[in-house]
Amino acid sequence: MSRTALQKLKDFIFFPIRAVTLFHDDKWGLSSLRTERFDYASEAVTGYCLDIGCGRDNLFVTQFLDGNGKGLDIFMYDGLTEENITDSFSHFPFDDNTFDSVTFIACLNHAPEPERDTELAEAFRVLKPGGNIIVTMGNPLAEIIVHKVVYIYDKLLGTDFDVDTERGMEEGEEYYLLDSEIRARLKKAGFHKLSKRYFVTQWCLNHMIIGWKPDK
Ligand SMILES: C[S@@+](CC[C@H](N)C(=O)[O-])C[C@H]1O[C@@H](n2cnc3c(N)ncnc32)[C@H](O)[C@@H]1O
Repeated sequence: MSRTALQKLKDFIFFPIRAVTLFHDDKWGLSSLRTERFDYASEAVTGYCLDIGCGRDNLFVTQFLDGNGKGLDIFMYDGLTEENITDSFSHFPFDDNTFDSVTFIACLNHAPEPERDTELAEAFRVLKPGGNIIVTMGNPLAEIIVHKVVYIYDKLLGTDFDVDTERGMEEGEEYYLLDSEIRARLKKAGFHKLSKRYFVTQWCLNHMIIGWKPDK
């Protein structure tokens, strides 16, 4: 599932409307913020993929990667099975050198500070040499505003957009992480050739940092 050029143009023009209404579901011929971040992240995936913090329905792997991967989470959201669940992200239940890509889509900020390096080290371990890691993260102000807007929606309208409220956020989780922290931790885990790609149709208020596991 990849957006056409026309779809991207419409999404770009109507971003302000989408930003305060379309969190999870595509509507009115426009893409939701979730569809959009999955679409951008899928462009950077190079093959068999591990999606950490996959969320409800394991959608990234099933709908955007044609099933070519595994989704993993710590909470039994709707649409997940035992295969998608781990007790803790301190160990990823996969052998060394298994995946071509590992994605952290809108979720590295949910790792409490002491666990972030451990999770990135696990990503490095399960990646094949030459594989890549993709970490998406919103602009700090945008992340705070969207989280607050979603919270208000759920309270006033009885919706359930906020998966993190359903799970219950723990101490040490954040609304966002700064690029400087993500880059420093990726380097510490062993990743190199770091690059950044903006999500243009979200007016560059969201982006991903991509790092590579060295070939040898
Ligand atoms: C904002 S949701 C994003 C879900 C999905 N990746 C998406 O983009 O729609 C954050 C996800 O991070 C997961 N999560 C919780 N603790 C985590 C951790 N320590 N490391 C990574 N992800 C975590 C949550 O369960 C939740 O599924």
